[in-house]
Amino acid sequence: MSFPNRRQLRRIVKPVWFMACLAPFAWLILRALGLAGDDLGADPIEATQDFTGIWALRLLLVTLAITPVRRLTGFIWLTQLRRMTGLFALFYASAHVLNYLVPDQGLNWAAIIEDILERPFITLGALALTGLIALGITSTRGWQVRLGKRWLTLHRLVYVIAILVVWHFWWQVKEVITEPLIYAVILTALLGSRLIKKKRVRFKPDA
Ligand code: HEM
Repeated sequence: MSFPNRRQLRRIVKPVWFMACLAPFAWLILRALGLAGDDLGADPIEATQDFTGIWALRLLLVTLAITPVRRLTGFIWLTQLRRMTGLFALFYASAHVLNYLVPDQGLNWAAIIEDILERPFITLGALALTGLIALGITSTRGWQVRLGKRWLTLHRLVYVIAILVVWHFWWQVKEVITEPLIYAVILTALLGSRLIKKKRVRFKPDA
């Protein structure tokens, strides 16, 4: 018997993973309410912006890591956590953008449109969000069936989106680039693992 089987996956692993993905958000809310012995500091809007942005990026990278880790470990069941993780990345990205639109910009649409058009890092963020929404909407089985082979092509966009997000992060950093650099290295490794796998599949040694 292999662990976890389908039933255990549905009853244990998935709910645990769901709670784990939600935990950072719960932590943010507790801090915002002053219940975690640590509030959001002098600028809670900026703290929320950074926190939700970084968790959206982390979960996006975890989504991309699931396939290579599954290949390395042979844990096929990991695939079943991929969609949920990707949707959580979209959830944190939506919270990030809502925080920008409402408390930060006060829904001043003229200023928001000017920001999107004139601040390149915001333009990249908006493109990444649009892509994530498209992938979120089409992540259901119904869309998989409807799009057929095109579904896979569309969902490969996740790599482009991840590049846009790391770029978005990189561009808004003022001086020390260590943090975005670390995420860029992780993303390069994930992209690299995909390319290596493709080459291996194409390379068929002579018998
Ligand atoms: C319309 C879309 C977006 C807007 C308007 C936006 C806006 C912002 C703003 C204002 C900041 C903070 C800049 C600062 O602290 O000076 C930021 C940082 C960040 N954003 Fe976005 N963003 C968008 C989309 C996204 C998406 C889709 C993701 C991830 C999936 C993302 C991830 C990040 C990250 C990782 C940071 C850096 C956080 C840190 O400094 O720790 N953003 N974004």
